[in-house]
Parts: sequence; structure tokens; C-alpha cells
Amino acid sequence: MSDTAELELGPLHDYYEFEHADEDFRAAIVDGLSQPQKRLSSKYFYDERGSKLFDQITELPEYYPTRTETAMLRAHAGEFAELIGPHASLVEFGSGSSTKVRILLDALETPAGYVPIDISREHLIESAKDLADAYPDLMVVPIAADYTQPLELPDIAGEVVRIGFFPGSTIGNFTYGEAVEFLRNAATELGTDNGLLIGVDLKKDIDILRAAYNDAAGVTAEFNLNILRHINRELGADFDLDGFTHDARWHDDKGRIEMHLVSKCDQSVDIDGHKFDFVAGESIHTEDSHKYTIDGFHALAAEAGWRAFRHWIDADELFSIHYLRVA
Ligand code: AVJ
Repeated sequence: MSDTAELELGPLHDYYEFEHADEDFRAAIVDGLSQPQKRLSSKYFYDERGSKLFDQITELPEYYPTRTETAMLRAHAGEFAELIGPHASLVEFGSGSSTKVRILLDALETPAGYVPIDISREHLIESAKDLADAYPDLMVVPIAADYTQPLELPDIAGEVVRIGFFPGSTIGNFTYGEAVEFLRNAATELGTDNGLLIGVDLKKDIDILRAAYNDAAGVTAEFNLNILRHINRELGADFDLDGFTHDARWHDDKGRIEMHLVSKCDQSVDIDGHKFDFVAGESIHTEDSHKYTIDGFHALAAEAGWRAFRHWIDADELFSIHYLRVA
């Protein structure tokens, strides 16, 4: 699984790559588009361009989650550090640009290691190298993998406690069942006596939610459409990006924002010999973004083998951060 021969490690301590299964990607795309309601997993947004577009989303005036969570991480960093204690290693699920973790690392007493896990390999390595440069005493071991699959974590020398970090309310992208499965896997991987610091977006005024996923500058629309560009490049498909429009709506019964790409006309798309027909108005469901209440999230965590230890909410009650311990 470790494949460091080709890679210039630079300041990185080690690097793990789990088999990058092109076959799995192809099969998942074909399978999703073969459903009556066509579907693409939101994890496929994050090619290099998608990761950069997401970074742009986090800067948008309408997109409150990132700035709210970041402010909360800053405000409570001392409390987190006290709860976590010295010589901790942090394991980040879906590390992206590894921006928020710096707030934690700066507050922790002699952190031992940082294990960023991300599906976007190039972006992961670039970000991990930047971080390792900034924290020369930290053992940085990036893992290029789909963190929704079970994986084995590396040993970090001198580590006393292992803390999962899952900010951004990415948990919201999972269905209830997927969220339970992810949290259960994380509990197993992190092990007894360890913890998880997780950001969870809250249910709130619908207009605030709607605006956050329909920004005036159109970056979210571009981010949504980029999944088609990704498939075109990776699988030689012929999606016409101008043939689809971005649609993001709140579904009260399901407690989630759903993002779709809606076909503007009757058209068909070829993916490696498979033909997919679209009628005008038909959509591809590309993302769910579930919003929770505190009690709702606690129930989910308990079902997955976690004990709610403490949580924080911002003054506007937009976002929550939870510290959980393996039950
Ligand atoms: C941070 C990945 C959870 O659902 O809010 C942002 C992704 N999608 N705008 C979210 C996203 C559209 C985001 N996650």
C-alpha cells in the first residue's frame, strides 16, 4: 500500500497510497447514471479543479459554514487543546487544503503527528508538504484514499492520543446509514480512548440555506458542473456542460439541501460505449447536504458507538462542533 518510490517526499515523513481503482470510478459512474433517478456521488466533485472551486466557495459571502466554523475553532482552540492533551496525532478525513487543522495544531501542546486523508492525490501532497514545512517537528503522513472505505492508520512515534478531525460538515453529505457506517469505521480505526472533533451544520432559516447553495457569483453552479468535466476527462465521456443547469433546493422532509444538474434538453451522453439518455428537465442528483439538530446528531453518534462529550454552537446558531469519544 505504501508507494513512495516515485514520490519526492521532501518534508513529509511518509506517504501512503491505497490502490486508486479506476475500475471502481468507472463502475460507480455507470451504475449511478443507470438508476431511474440518475446519481453521481459528491465525492467525485474533488478533482484538482473541483478542490480549487470548493476553496472559492468557502470565501463566498453567502457560504456561512466555513467562516463560522473557522471562527469557532479559533475561539475554542484552547478548550479543544485542554480536552485533547499533549502528544496527540490528528487524523483528518478529507483534508482538502489542510487549512483549519492549523488552528488546532497551533493550540495543541506538542502535537505528535498529522495524517491527512484525501481522495484528490495531487492536492493532498501539495497541501501536506506545505503543512510539513510550516510544522517541522510534526510527523506528517498523508494518505491518498477514499476515506469512506475502511483503512488502516499508520503508527505515529510518541503518540499518546489519536483524534479524528472531520470539519466542514462533510458528514452532511452522507445519508443517515452512510454516516453511521463512516462514524463506526472511524471509531474502529481511531481505537478506544480516542476522540473525534467534528463540525456539523445546523438546521436553520431556509433562506440562509438556499442562498448558501445558490451564490450570486455562480461558483457553486460551476462546482456542480465540474463533476461532468471530471467524468469527461477521466472516462472520455462527452457531457456538454452547457446542456445542464445547477439546481439546489431544500427538502424539509429529508432535512437536506439536494444539488442536481438538470438537463436543458433531450440529449444523450456516451461514456465508454454506454449511452445515457436524458429528457429535458431530467436531473442527475449530485449531492445531499444534511443539516442536523444537536439532539439529532447526538442520536446518530450514539448509534455509531460514540459518546457525546461536549459541543459548541456559534452565537447565531448556524453551526456546531462536537467532541466525541469512542464509547
Ligand atoms: C463542505 C462538503 C459539506 O455540503 O456544504 C458546498 C460542499 N456543496 N457547496 C456542503 C458544498 C455545495 C459542502 N461540504
